[in-house]
Amino acid sequence: MTKISTPEGVSDQAANIVAHVVSEKPNAVLGLATGSTPTGLYQRLVARNVDLSRVTTFNLDEYVGLDPSHPQSYHYFMWHHLFAPAGMRSEQVHFPGPHYEQCIAQAGGIDLQILGIGTNGHIAFNEPGSPLDSRTRTVSLSAQTIRDNARFFNHIDEVPGSAVTMGIATILDARKILLLATGKGKAPAVNAALKGPVTPQLPASALQNHPDVSVLLDYDAAALYT
Ligand code: PGA
Repeated sequence: MTKISTPEGVSDQAANIVAHVVSEKPNAVLGLATGSTPTGLYQRLVARNVDLSRVTTFNLDEYVGLDPSHPQSYHYFMWHHLFAPAGMRSEQVHFPGPHYEQCIAQAGGIDLQILGIGTNGHIAFNEPGSPLDSRTRTVSLSAQTIRDNARFFNHIDEVPGSAVTMGIATILDARKILLLATGKGKAPAVNAALKGPVTPQLPASALQNHPDVSVLLDYDAAALYT
């Protein structure tokens, strides 16, 4: 299913999908993403008081070398945008580290994985060239990703060079995937991911191998796809 709307529409529909999953299964296991794209979704979950008190969450990735208290760490992002305002507890939430794959399996696997996409077609920090059968591991960030993420830091030299990320195979294990993309910078990657060949050079293309992916795009991100 692919839907195209305004950026607000993307966030509204994403919130509807997450709220629906959690109402059907209050103890759902959610895979969560950081970045500009999902912030509207998290705002809406908080504003609508969606009950997240029984969910378990697994974030896609985290920088290496940033303390969880660092404002650009993904720990900080998630506590600021979702976990604290939604009243969630630290026992509910997980970030990549040792035994992450076993931890996800013990939780019963991910019911719904939220995903963004990089301008280079990455999903999580699986950069171009990542094996399609990759699992959680430490990776080097591509020059493109470092440039893209420099906007969040005072200087590009402050962007960490490496991260721990779920792998492409980890992501594809989720029972349902929700891919969000907004902005014209994403249009080439979105088009290649949805219509191009499945290739490690465009990690998001691996989503074509998953049976249940919903794609929510704004008009700009969909510009080359339609
Ligand atoms: P963004 O990042 O939402 O900040 O554009 C998406 C991504 O890199 O996966």
